[in-house]
Amino acid sequence: MAKKVQFVETVLRDANQSLIATRLPYDKFEPILETIDKAGYYACECWGGATFDVCLRYLHEDPWERLRKIRAKLPNTKLQMLLRGQNVLGYAHYPDDFVKLFVQKAVENGIDVIRIFDALNDVNNLKVAMEATVKAGAIASGTISYTTSPVHTHKKYVEMVNDLKSMGASTICIKDMAGIMGPQEAYDLVSAIKDAHPDLPIDLHTHSTTGLAFMTYLKAVEAGVDIIDTAISPFSGGTSQPATETLAYALRQLGYEVDLNDDATKAMADYFKGVRDEFVADGTLMPKSMATDTQCLTYQVPGGMLSNLLSQLKQMNALDKFDEALVETPKVRADLGYPPLVTPTSQMVGVQAVRNVLDGQRYKTVSKEIKAYCRGEYGQTPAPIDPAIQKQILGDEQPLSVRYADTLEPIVDKTRQQLAGVAKCDEDVLSYIAFPNLAEKFFAERKEKEENCVTYTITEC
Ligand code: CO
Repeated sequence: MAKKVQFVETVLRDANQSLIATRLPYDKFEPILETIDKAGYYACECWGGATFDVCLRYLHEDPWERLRKIRAKLPNTKLQMLLRGQNVLGYAHYPDDFVKLFVQKAVENGIDVIRIFDALNDVNNLKVAMEATVKAGAIASGTISYTTSPVHTHKKYVEMVNDLKSMGASTICIKDMAGIMGPQEAYDLVSAIKDAHPDLPIDLHTHSTTGLAFMTYLKAVEAGVDIIDTAISPFSGGTSQPATETLAYALRQLGYEVDLNDDATKAMADYFKGVRDEFVADGTLMPKSMATDTQCLTYQVPGGMLSNLLSQLKQMNALDKFDEALVETPKVRADLGYPPLVTPTSQMVGVQAVRNVLDGQRYKTVSKEIKAYCRGEYGQTPAPIDPAIQKQILGDEQPLSVRYADTLEPIVDKTRQQLAGVAKCDEDVLSYIAFPNLAEKFFAERKEKEENCVTYTITEC
């Protein structure tokens, strides 16, 4: 029997985020939602990541309402969101009561699959969100933030999968956020996880940035991967995912079963071509984002980080230090215990490398983020932080001995009371905790428009 490969469509979330800074308003994709629903995807990734922030900040949309509208138009397709573990949709760690309520409300408003990851792969930062997802009746997709280092061995990744499974993961996602995973690495890692957990479905997520993605997916499929993340062709390639239709075509030719409806994907491609052209015309979609960039294969740092390094050095009039900063970057990463280079650790490591080079002395100047990292506020690092450097940064201060979130006071009830008369529902309370200034502004605008959040009522204030 032909092995089946399933697809997650990313056009509404990751492709939108990677190519056009998440600027796709609901109205622009509403007309095509019913067609997406007929296409036969495993899931449609449409929420979480930066979508929540951008809805409030730039699009003047209530992210919760957006989710409910998508849900109503896609009754037959699982809706997926991306959640940053204990950081939910932000960069700070939140108390557990917020994480739990956020997950519960996301599921109540229509989410079926929650992909939960942590920048350090510390499972203690995933546990509360994973358990809340299972409790709410949704699919918890336990996620590995993929990176390479001497301590990121297959054995270690398989151990992480064991932990994720025991926390209730019903699928595993390997998330290659930088597009640095090559075909052989994909084959070997998927094989290692499949050997240990033959019945646990695996989803591979990568980006086309370096041009490896099609080959990487193909070898992952040969190793038994069950689900791949792709974007409809007009929103594919470059910093986005590889094209849905291309992979469907190639995999069918190779004898795999692909349940996508070609009429529906064709209609989607026709539709999104028009949308793409609008974003090209107004300059939001830049040619650079669509191009192949192999620099990060040479330097082994994600593409976004290279451009950050360049712009930092430019600001400081020190572009001549670029090569030195590039050499310093992997050294800082090693000192800090080999964190995966993903937001926010990529910025922290990059800024520190530049500092070390410009100061002519290592760790003379340290950001408050690096200090917090050394205190253990971001979680357990993949390898121990270099003890001498940790001591140099922390002085007599002791690193945390417990999970950082355990030191935080509950926040939900307090905020409900604070927002009495302003918040119309718990969703409002959650938006406010996540992005207080943006939510406040949004509530004021909404009041003006006299919009209502009729379906949900405040339960406890
Ligand atoms: Co991604």
